Amino acid sequence: MEQTVKPTDGKLGILVPGMGAVATTFIAGVEAVKKGIAQPIGALTQMGNIRLGKRTENRYPMIKDFVPLAGLDEIVFGGWDVYSDNVYESALNAQVLERSQLAAIKSELEAIKPMEAVFDREYVKNLDGSNVKKRATKWELAEALMDDIRNFKEKNGCSRLVMVWCASTEKYIEQSEVHETIEAFEEGLRNNDPNIAPSMIYAYAAIKMGVPFANGAPNLTCDIPALIDFAKQNEVPIAGKDFKTGQTLMKTIVAPGLHARALGINGWFSSNILGNRDGLVLDDPDNFKTKEVSKLSVLEEILQPELNPELYGELYHKVRINYYPPHGDNKESWDNIDIFGWMGYKMQIKINFLCRDSILAAPIVLDLALFMDLAQRAGMSGIQEWLSFYFKSPQTAPGLKPEHDIFKQLIKLQNTLRHMMGEDLITHLGLDYYQDLVEAL
Ligand SMILES: NC(=O)c1ccc[n+]([C@@H]2O[C@H](COP(=O)([O-])OP(=O)(O)OC[C@H]3O[C@@H](n4cnc5c(N)ncnc54)[C@H](O)[C@@H]3O)[C@@H](O)[C@H]2O)c1
Repeated sequence: MEQTVKPTDGKLGILVPGMGAVATTFIAGVEAVKKGIAQPIGALTQMGNIRLGKRTENRYPMIKDFVPLAGLDEIVFGGWDVYSDNVYESALNAQVLERSQLAAIKSELEAIKPMEAVFDREYVKNLDGSNVKKRATKWELAEALMDDIRNFKEKNGCSRLVMVWCASTEKYIEQSEVHETIEAFEEGLRNNDPNIAPSMIYAYAAIKMGVPFANGAPNLTCDIPALIDFAKQNEVPIAGKDFKTGQTLMKTIVAPGLHARALGINGWFSSNILGNRDGLVLDDPDNFKTKEVSKLSVLEEILQPELNPELYGELYHKVRINYYPPHGDNKESWDNIDIFGWMGYKMQIKINFLCRDSILAAPIVLDLALFMDLAQRAGMSGIQEWLSFYFKSPQTAPGLKPEHDIFKQLIKLQNTLRHMMGEDLITHLGLDYYQDLVEAL
């Protein structure tokens, strides 16, 4: 059944808590594309096609021509950071994009200045900026964020907003009582409960203001019952966690292939060196733990060792991240994969990925922002599992195992778009192409 998708009327404001490497690469890229000096490579919403109907129909429209998405010219950017550098200065600091390329969009980037952040050093020890809101309670901080959101919307004449968390990874915390219901959570905001992280305050403010919220870091953030229920109540889409880039992207491409051919795996050692601010934050063991949990879950879910103990029961999976300043944002990762085949004979795969983290993350931010806005206009609220494609540790309904296989994730995403637009879902069965043959037999 076709869902009715409201049209895009007016401007879309994309709000990003955290205006560091990922956010500035994203914003600079969109501005460069608008000027016609760059291509939005890696963004499905800009460069992807979708098949409709049977293969014989030859219908492969661009996704952006198939579903009503905000155009890049209709987007305005805003955000918060603990440092007061404008987006141009922050992009220079991040050293992802060339100075010469940034020069062409300097005035657009300089005009975007971060609002004061809601920040707590308890959650990110390795940073110490001064562009930070000071209020007596977390409740007042949430109210201050809501004022920011309201003012931004009005000043920029936006009809809709979305928020994508691009700020640092917070220290590892587990779900506790204050996260269980919205009443407990609001009480916790008033009492300054230490288990309410800054990212949760942003998520709360967004949801309360009817703004879809996606979480690009592995923090718990909106993956708690209080905020999941609150999102449903307020009819707001939410999604997370942790952008799927670099090594985990590779893992969710390679592992489903090995699994598909029933090849065994008994060891997967992943190491990374990176030297950006993200690497600095992850150098703290509490913050690394959050990332580690997110990265480790992937293989288990794809390989399902409990169903295939002979092939994956002995799997030893280790992930290391090392802070190495000379590499900057150019992360280097090594994977050593010990596999075995027919009659147990051993083989090895080595992957050495010289990637650029933020170059892989930027198109994800764009796609998420546009798809979250689409979801809201399509009347979809709560957890948007169809966007798992973009996350290392996809948020799912309680009790539901996440899907990590990137190909299954893509099928889910595309079928959701078809469903929204009243097109037939594609099962890839394909027997009907051979119907004459079957009937003749
Ligand atoms: N780059 C990738 O490929 C990738 C992949 C997955 C996840 N992530 C996550 O995305 C996030 C951003 O990565 P990055 O490389 O841009 O890091 P970064 O350190 O360059 O940028 C993060 C920014 O967030 C700011 N910040 C920290 N706490 C804040 C708060 N409470 N409010 C507002 N601003 C705050 C920091 O000052 C910093 O400028 C990290 O959490 C990272 O783990 C990145």
